[in-house]
Amino acid sequence: MTDSPLAPGQQPPTIDTTVPHSARIWNYWLGGKDNYPVDRAAGEQFRETFPEIVAIARASRQFLTRAVRYLAGEAGIRQFLDIGTGLPTADNTHQVAQRVAPESRIVYVDNDPIVLTHARALLTSTPEGRTAYVDADLRDPDHVLQEAAGTLDFTQPVAIMLMGILGHIADDGQAQTIVERLVGAVPSGSYLAMNDGTDTSEEVVEAARIWNQSANPTYHLRSPDRIARFFDGLELVEPGVVSPPRWRPDPSPAGLPAEIDSACGVARKP
Ligand SMILES: C[S@@+](CC[C@H](N)C(=O)[O-])C[C@H]1O[C@@H](n2cnc3c(N)ncnc32)[C@H](O)[C@@H]1O
Repeated sequence: MTDSPLAPGQQPPTIDTTVPHSARIWNYWLGGKDNYPVDRAAGEQFRETFPEIVAIARASRQFLTRAVRYLAGEAGIRQFLDIGTGLPTADNTHQVAQRVAPESRIVYVDNDPIVLTHARALLTSTPEGRTAYVDADLRDPDHVLQEAAGTLDFTQPVAIMLMGILGHIADDGQAQTIVERLVGAVPSGSYLAMNDGTDTSEEVVEAARIWNQSANPTYHLRSPDRIARFFDGLELVEPGVVSPPRWRPDPSPAGLPAEIDSACGVARKP
């Protein structure tokens, strides 16, 4: 079963193809096709300052896949709240989760009108499961939770996913309050999966400074220690908070993959 992302009679938002857009630039770095010349130009310009961004985007997405596979598999989670969904790609959360457990329910949340126009591609649920798209802002977690409750049962464990989104919340106290509110709303046995950019090289700090001169929304790097503290009170799954390529990598004869300027983790609510 699927839910329509638009209310009856509601028109999809108009796409402005003259202004670069962060969700479409992220899509470009991921090798997607949902972007326009203006996004590709901005993406290329940023890449000239910080070539690693492409590796970061792809490794972040690969972490998302491995984390969801773990959550649906080993952890037995059947409900996912994916906030900051981004544009649809090859392996969206519901596809990864429902490959493991077809009955999985997924609520996608994003506040970007561009993502809303593509949301139907996120609603291809298995008949046994369910997917829904919610047009809401992470800065209003009560609204997010209220809307998600139409699809998810909050008396049962939920995996809250904050992948590459908390950096968009500049105020540290506000980011902390949001995480606490979301984690507070789910029962014991739920999980928090998170990934965000870190201030771990001069290059990335400079790239973020340049990005924030013109980007909307802006992005704020945090230290790996600060990111780890968002998991306080939860039980971190091995290997803890690490750079995404180092979180349970698929076995490779090449050995441990190189680190990138990001930190991620998955933790269980006791
Ligand atoms: C860097 S992308 C990450 C996409 C995806 N989670 C991934 O890991 O590939 C960040 C996403 O968060 C969304 N976003 C940013 N701020 C938001 C907010 N305050 N509320 C809801 N979504 C937001 C953006 O529109 C974008 O789609």
